[in-house]
Order: sequence, then C-alpha cells, then structure tokens
Amino acid sequence: VIEELLPSSVTSASMTGDDANGEPLAEELALVAAAVPSRRQEFISGRSCARRALSELGENCGPILRGPQREPLWPRGIVGSITHCRGYRAAAVGRMMQVRTIGIDAELHDALPAGVLKSISVGQERDWIASAPAGVHWDRVLFSAKESIYKAWFPLTRSALGFDEAIVRFDPLRRTFHAELRPAPHPLAPDPTQCAPTAFDGRFLVRDGLVLTAIVLPAH
Ligand SMILES: CC(C)(COP(=O)(O)OP(=O)(O)OC[C@H]1O[C@@H](n2cnc3c(N)ncnc32)[C@H](O)[C@@H]1OP(=O)(O)O)[C@@H](O)C(=O)NCCC(=O)NCCS
Repeated sequence: VIEELLPSSVTSASMTGDDANGEPLAEELALVAAAVPSRRQEFISGRSCARRALSELGENCGPILRGPQREPLWPRGIVGSITHCRGYRAAAVGRMMQVRTIGIDAELHDALPAGVLKSISVGQERDWIASAPAGVHWDRVLFSAKESIYKAWFPLTRSALGFDEAIVRFDPLRRTFHAELRPAPHPLAPDPTQCAPTAFDGRFLVRDGLVLTAIVLPAH
C-alpha cells in the first residue's frame, strides 16, 4: 500500500510478514548477528524490499550497509527510506536527480501508550487532535508523520530534530500533512549553508490496521 503515497519518481516494495525464501546477504546479516530473531527478520526483510525497489529503478545493488546513526547507506546517486512494523515491511527509493530525500514510516493503527502523545507533540498539535475527525488514532498518525520527517531530515542534514521542532498540520480530506521545521540552534543543528529544508509536505493513509506516512522532497 505504500506506493499509493509515492510519486512516480519513486519506486517501492513492501511485504506483509517476512521474506521466507529471500537469501540474506552475509554483509547485512553480520550487522544484526547479535540481534534477537525478530529484529534480524525485520532488518533482512527491509533490505530485501529495498533491493526490490532498487531493481525496479534499474539498480542492481549489493549489501545495503548502515551508517553511524543507523541510516541505510544507499548506492551512489540514490536516496531512500525503510520502515517496518509488526506484519509490514517497506522500502522506497529514488534518484537524487529527481528526489532530494525520502522518509517513510509504518505503524500499527492503535492509540499511543498513555503519556507518549505529550512527549512527541506541541500544544497546537494536541489541540487539533482533540477535535479531529473520529475513527482515526490521530496521535499515532502524528507519531508516524514525525518518524517520516526524521528519516527524510537526517540524511540531508546529518543532525538531530526534536519532536517539538517539527510542527505538523493535517488535512484529513486530502490525507496530506504539512510540517514546519524549526530546529533550535544547538551544536548538532544543521549548518545553514547546507540549505536545510524549512518545511516538508507528506501524505498519510490509514488502512488494514496500519498507519502509513511518506515524505518525498523533489530535487527541484
Ligand atoms: C530512526 C527512527 C525514526 C526509526 O523509526 P521507527 O518507527 O522506530 O522504526 P521503523 O521500523 O519505521 O524504521 C526503522 C528504519 O529507519 C531507518 N533509519 C534509522 N535511523 C535512521 C536515520 N538516522 N536516518 C534515516 N533513516 C534511519 C533504518 O532503515 C531503520 O531500519 P533498519 O535498522 O532495519 O535499517 C526512530 O527510531 C528514532 O530514532 N526517532 C527519534 C527521532 C525522531 O523521530 N525525531 C522526531 C523528529 S520530528
């Protein structure tokens, strides 16, 4: 379902459950050798989705290794994003010529645990959620949007972004969101010469027990 949120410049692959027949690459397996089996599975399946999405883009690639902040290391000229939650794994990739950054996220569609909303939101987001259309766990959609924001933000800036530094507004009818990015000046904040984005536009979908969000920032 993630492809519904993505433009034609981006290819994607997803799976429900895990890739039982897939051949994990030794270099990728080594990265999760010490992890619990469920973590190993999601990591390998996410990589398998990434390779399928890359091959749809015309790229055959070897192992997708991991950077120091856990970010996937894509082949030269490629940007992308990986997500997994219980029962769903997905990856989306694009060419830097067309796409500046991608962030995707999948979550189970249920309410956040008590107390979590306050720590991932600002007052105006909570006020909106309090009067938002019924039938959707908007707290979870907000959380997912912020995870997508971070995954799109980090590869561009290589810096942190607090949950209170992206202010999200949803359009429930269009199933879109707009995020104002307001990183506080701190040592890890992006260098302004990097031309860090000041806003992201994203899309969301709530279906089959999942919340999916995606941000694709075009190159131009
Ligand atoms: C990194 C993070 C966003 C991952 O989200 P998640 O919902 O926990 O997990 P998901 O399964 O959806 O995504 C995990 C994938 O994100 C990707 N990822 C991890 N760190 C990343 C980073 N720094 N930049 C880009 N992608 C990253 C990886 O591909 C990872 O999967 P893998 O380890 O199997 O390769 C989250 O753990 C995190 O650190 N959040 C804190 C920062 C944040 O969200 N700030 C809010 C900004 S508004």
